[in-house]
Amino acid sequence: MKVTVVGAGHVGATCAQRIVENSIADVYLVDIVEGLAAGKALDLAEAAPLVGHGRSITGGTEYGPAEGSDVVVITAGVARKPGMSRDDLLETNGRIVTQIVEELVAVAPDAVIIMVTNPLDVTTHIAKEVSNFPRERVMGMAGALDTARFRAFIGMELDCAARDVQAMVLGGHGDSMVPLVSSATVGGVPITQLIDARRLEEIVERTRDGGAEIVSLLKTASAFYAPSAGVTDMVASILRDEGRVIPVSVLLQGEFGIEDTFLGVPARLGAGGVEEIIECELSDDELAALQRSAQHVRETVEAWERICAG
Ligand code: NAI
Ligand code: 2OP
Repeated sequence: MKVTVVGAGHVGATCAQRIVENSIADVYLVDIVEGLAAGKALDLAEAAPLVGHGRSITGGTEYGPAEGSDVVVITAGVARKPGMSRDDLLETNGRIVTQIVEELVAVAPDAVIIMVTNPLDVTTHIAKEVSNFPRERVMGMAGALDTARFRAFIGMELDCAARDVQAMVLGGHGDSMVPLVSSATVGGVPITQLIDARRLEEIVERTRDGGAEIVSLLKTASAFYAPSAGVTDMVASILRDEGRVIPVSVLLQGEFGIEDTFLGVPARLGAGGVEEIIECELSDDELAALQRSAQHVRETVEAWERICAG
């Protein structure tokens, strides 16, 4: 099994580390900056005797070694600085991912694409347009991260293990994301029985602002540990055919009443990529919020189309 990770920055290098050190697959790391991917890959390879993995990890600037990859993870592009929204990255990152997907399709035509670069739902749309892959093989990572943040914050609030918190965040990766309060549980107990409505609203807001909270602390970078853990879960579920149910950005074709829009929804991930979109029941408010989120993604796609038109 081979995974190509494009972008050897914070998210890409940490993804590569998690994938090899968890013995999930061999990794080829690519970056446009000469020596960056090769250097980080060599450093990770030199850690093998210490951490005890037997995976191959190499890096470079060329796409040839990505040939035959089972999964490609795209993290290349610019990240947010304090005060920027994810949508502010559209023009620069849209052009970067267009060129990268063209390169990858030529050498790995059967791969599953996992997009990470922001603005996530729109770059995933671009990957689908450029690759012309079926929708099962083009998805974006964001729901895994937003959900992890929501679960972590609930765990902190209740002073209980975050892994016992079951919850989901759907929608676009931005201010319009939709943390689902109605179905969130801790050890099977609805969180609405444990946390009052006002405090829950604060936790939802903190989840929506989770990316900005990290940017404001780091100042010159955005989050990468939790994002790379989200990517790694998705890669493992695909390569090991685990059938994990994880919210991912996928092209909706009528599900949840939404047409032709990439949006985060629960999906079963296995060897074929997105093997099923799970149309869970939502409250009227949650469904309305999901549809508003879809509208925001469509408006950003239109902004991208205006950029392309010139
Ligand atoms: P970073 O700046 O640390 O790394 C980006 C890397 O991309 C750099 O090493 C750069 O040289 C490389 N790059 C730029 N243009 C390239 C090209 N044409 N070909 C190959 N490599 C190229 O940024 P970081 O923190 O790794 O974030 C990467 C992207 O992921 C950003 O757009 C960020 O907003 C996004 N992100 C998305 C998340 C999500 O939940 N979807 C979570 C975290 C980050
Ligand atoms: C985040 O939510 C930057 O989108 C990224 O941390």
